[in-house]
Amino acid sequence: MTATPLSRRALLGGVGAAGLTVGVAGGALGREALAADPTADRAGADERAAGALGRAAVPFFGPRQAGITEAAQARVQWAAFDLAPGVGRDGLRQLLRQWSATAARLARGETAEAAENQIALDAGPCGLTFTFGFGAAVFEKAGLTDRRPAALAPLPAFPEDAIDPARSEGDLWVQIGADDALVVFHAFRVLQRQAAGLAGLRWQMAGFSRTPGATERPMTPRNLMGQIDGTGNPKPADAGFEEKVFAGGSDWMRGGTYAVVRRIRMLLDNWEALPTDRQERVIGRRKSDGGPLSGGSEHTPVDLTATGADGGLLIPADAHVRVAAPAANGGATMLRRGFSYADGMAADGAPDAGLLFVAYQADPGKGFVPVQRKLARGDGLSRFLRHESSGLYAVPPGAPEGGYVGQQLLD
Ligand code: HEM
Repeated sequence: MTATPLSRRALLGGVGAAGLTVGVAGGALGREALAADPTADRAGADERAAGALGRAAVPFFGPRQAGITEAAQARVQWAAFDLAPGVGRDGLRQLLRQWSATAARLARGETAEAAENQIALDAGPCGLTFTFGFGAAVFEKAGLTDRRPAALAPLPAFPEDAIDPARSEGDLWVQIGADDALVVFHAFRVLQRQAAGLAGLRWQMAGFSRTPGATERPMTPRNLMGQIDGTGNPKPADAGFEEKVFAGGSDWMRGGTYAVVRRIRMLLDNWEALPTDRQERVIGRRKSDGGPLSGGSEHTPVDLTATGADGGLLIPADAHVRVAAPAANGGATMLRRGFSYADGMAADGAPDAGLLFVAYQADPGKGFVPVQRKLARGDGLSRFLRHESSGLYAVPPGAPEGGYVGQQLLD
């Protein structure tokens, strides 16, 4: 029996909202394979299921870049590059041409034409996606200051920010996601080596989410605080989804989006000292199943007005979901697609772990910025967080077949 190759886009199409169904692919297929061939030994069936996960391929070319509306993969690498001194528009074009051609090959499961290092030889693409973005500084270096979008204005400083500039911003942002760590690292190293002479690495971060098939049923993933995270995300079927997440207008960013990227450390020692019911009040949702404290199950709409027998609000005044909700922020909406990170102990002896937060929106001034302003002041969760790095990137639309990302700007 041959397992049917899977397309992550086909599988996840219509779901879109980050992190909802990645578990289905591996898990469902594993069970299907066993049921379809009862005489097969278990190891054989598991091998076929695993092979199918490897064959999952997300096309690189398309109207949108990949890695935005698909469910988060098990592994991610984020990196920012700065152009080498003297590299201008031509060098930037050369780099994005090379990176786009390579990304398209790797996403199909082929080897790279240049700088191939055989790290991922035995694996399929495993749902490999690439997402490229431009930081504000690259426009001047490329002599394109007049094409820098207004929406790329620097983010304001927020109260309690502890931003490390060495791990923030950068001329180019690259997100590489796949369901296998070797596949991700391979793609990252190839891109890094192809950039030699044109751009150098500024910072790099590795993250993870749930491994497909790890849960018995499809589930929204949990973060390192143990919360089900991603439920309240806008869904592609929601009215206004396109306009709120993807840029309109008629310039080169039409169909692109803006990524706000924050490395948010979780103060886990403090968090884990709180009893579960207090943790739930900090968020406004139950830990067990993600259901709102106003009642119902995970996908029941949150009722911010609901009160208990004592007349008190069931979702506390400083609960994260209340303070962050679009309803409390003039409709401000963003698509969150974060990953966890865990990098050992920090200098203060506490875990250097947390959330690689990324939010996509048509305009950060109408998405992340007003919401984070409010969260920094009045969110019960902020006592347990530290924002340690920050970046804002213009993520252009996808490249047409044979084209490259950023072509509308650079040609
Ligand atoms: C480590 C940091 C953070 C953690 C652990 C966290 C966790 C959560 C959790 C558990 C939920 C409820 C489930 C869900 O709807 O996804 C949630 C909702 C939400 N979060 Fe966060 N969050 C963090 C940072 C942020 C930041 C920085 C922003 C934006 C500035 C943000 C915006 C939102 C929004 C918009 C919602 C949905 C609210 C709703 O309409 O129900 N979060 N977050």
